[in-house]
Amino acid sequence: MTDPTPHLIRTSRDGDVLILTIDNPPVNAFSPGVPEGLKAGLDAAATDDTVKAVVIIGGGRTFIAGADIRTFNLPREQAPDLRGTIAKLDAFPKPTVAALHGTALGGGFELALGCTHRVATPDAKVGLPEVKLGLLPGAGGTQRLPRVVGVKKALDLILSGTPVGAAPARDLGLIDEIVEGDLLTGAVAFARRVADVRPLPRISERPAQPDPEAIEAARQSIRKTHRGQLSPQFIVDLVDLATRTPFNEGHAEEGVNFVQAKDSPQSRGMRHMFFAEREAAKIPGLDKTTPTTDIRRVGVIGAGTMGGGIAMNFLNAGIPVTIVETAQENLDRGLNTIRKTYEASAAKGRLKPEDVQKRLDLLTPTLSMDDLGDADLIIEAVFEDMAVKKDIFTRLDAVAKPGAILATNTSTLDVGEIAAVTSRPEQVIGLHFFSPANIMKLLEIVRTDKTSDSVLATSLKLSRTIGKVGVVVGVCNGFVGNRMLYAYREQASKAVLEGATPQAVDAAMNSLGLPMGPYAMSDMAGLDIGYMARRAAAERAGQPMPDDWVDRVVQLGRKGQKTGAGVYDYPDGGRTPVPSPAVDDLIQAYRAEKGVQPREATQDDLISRLTATLANEGARILEEGIALRASDIDTIYTYGYGFPAYRGGPMHYASEQGLTTVVQTLERHSLEVAPLLRRLAQEGKTFAQYDAERAKSQT
Ligand code: 3HC
Repeated sequence: MTDPTPHLIRTSRDGDVLILTIDNPPVNAFSPGVPEGLKAGLDAAATDDTVKAVVIIGGGRTFIAGADIRTFNLPREQAPDLRGTIAKLDAFPKPTVAALHGTALGGGFELALGCTHRVATPDAKVGLPEVKLGLLPGAGGTQRLPRVVGVKKALDLILSGTPVGAAPARDLGLIDEIVEGDLLTGAVAFARRVADVRPLPRISERPAQPDPEAIEAARQSIRKTHRGQLSPQFIVDLVDLATRTPFNEGHAEEGVNFVQAKDSPQSRGMRHMFFAEREAAKIPGLDKTTPTTDIRRVGVIGAGTMGGGIAMNFLNAGIPVTIVETAQENLDRGLNTIRKTYEASAAKGRLKPEDVQKRLDLLTPTLSMDDLGDADLIIEAVFEDMAVKKDIFTRLDAVAKPGAILATNTSTLDVGEIAAVTSRPEQVIGLHFFSPANIMKLLEIVRTDKTSDSVLATSLKLSRTIGKVGVVVGVCNGFVGNRMLYAYREQASKAVLEGATPQAVDAAMNSLGLPMGPYAMSDMAGLDIGYMARRAAAERAGQPMPDDWVDRVVQLGRKGQKTGAGVYDYPDGGRTPVPSPAVDDLIQAYRAEKGVQPREATQDDLISRLTATLANEGARILEEGIALRASDIDTIYTYGYGFPAYRGGPMHYASEQGLTTVVQTLERHSLEVAPLLRRLAQEGKTFAQYDAERAKSQT
């Protein structure tokens, strides 16, 4: 037989078995060329009597990792025909065996479910992660999965989007056999064994049993787990439908809903975040071959909340940590918190009980910085005081071995100024973790103009080792995230001064999808922290501290949840914010003092004002070169500040609103518009176009 399959499919024969190999690196996404090749291969094999069975396998590191996400923006007629390819498989008259390795995800796994059989390597993973892109499995997944694993398990898998390993997948009936040794050899042998099996075991022909309880439980739970999101609702409805209609009807409905989800701003936002996160790892001018340092031992200075949380990241990754404090009492308290956190994880089943001690055994507490001589990386995590930090870095310079990376966890201070007290400023970098540092995924990597490429490359690599998303930023007050937060809080304060209540501001941001509005968040973090940071910044700038009603709340001793009162009251030691009559009085008195006549603000006004402020500050940050791209800002604000991924981050959200609208909002509130934002609005462009143009000019 001549090779009928052009494009991205290789065809070969092993006796009576036809092998179709997908060759679309790096992850064999279902791009244009894949369906054409597969269909052509299947058409030829259907009429060739010498072919008894077909094996479909991925070349390179994985089976198909899903539909090609980039093609979702193409007009429908140009999109690769995944559903049609699977329909052809489902109607194919001979056994078809999907041979899975790597990650068979989304449309890739759906294609495998359209085959009559599936075999996999022991380390293969299968899953339907579409929900993480604001989508639903759109190529039969919502209809086939419940027919194999039942409604409850199907909902678990599709709503979590978490892949499962080959062994559990086999136990669930999703995989027929695990192949030890060479996958292709095993798959061909398996195909030969099932070549004469009739009728063909087609999943689409099986019934799915109704499970109204599981459906109802899922409906309840997505209200909390996927608040405000569209695609999880489609998913629950479609899985339910699978139990009530013939396959073809459910499948047709799935197709309609998939297009609705794909074309929604929510999915556009989540797809933007998918690529933004990956883009952040690419630093223009930083060669891929830049040598990195092996981080085998880490030193952490400070065993407070931040220091302890930072240390846990490394302990979790199996990297020994020496943690330094100034007093035994502080050291004991820090260690105790770490132990308790691990024990709580073990009690919740998130950590094996034996791993608690294993991790603690990697931790060496000490009162002497001299014990940091063998650390490859030392992270300072003491309070925000330039003099203290300079003193620590002077001492570190004397103690640390040559080549060690010296990092500060400062959230605001000039890393270059700290580096300048050492004899090796090229080894100094900011590693800004976010609280709780063992949980939050963001790591702002702050480079100075002296930080070496190798230190930068090592930091980026390290962020992946400890499961963080590292984003490289430059030095300025608050770097990217906190600088935007300051501007946002300042605007929130003004909105309250002009007439909104703090709870209306919080409710507005909550309705946008942020877990907390600015005031609930400040109360939780400690109102005094922002107060002290503003005071220090004003002192550094040699200016008086700007007047703000929130500071007057702090001056009353109301420092947030920790004192039982902040912008809100927290009666009986609780954590639920309750509007405070005392703060209401304070705000009214403040308005009177400033001669402001309060005006009502609608929820939409508050949302547009605060999000426009974020984008405006983001545009300034971009212009100053503090962030490399708008998408990096989105990554920072989504992973570090709770901006919902389905809004795509503040820069993407602004582009979705239209930058002209954003400019008008800023002008309506008499805010100075960042020149870059104004220019993009005038040119009718988005921040994504700005990123793309810059990337082009850098290559
Ligand atoms: N489409 C397009 N590009 C993809 C892709 C996809 N489905 N999956 C990965 N890529 C690209 C990445 O953008 C990256 O490109 P880059 O090198 O230019 O930055 C490259 O492939 C490698 O990806 P990673 O850096 O993420 O590599 P990892 O090895 O860390 O992870 C992975 C591999 C687990 C496959 C991960 O990339 C992933 O989770 N991909 C997304 C899988 C997914 O969501 N599939 C469902 C798609 S939607 C769908 O199938 C709809 C259907 O139901 C109709």
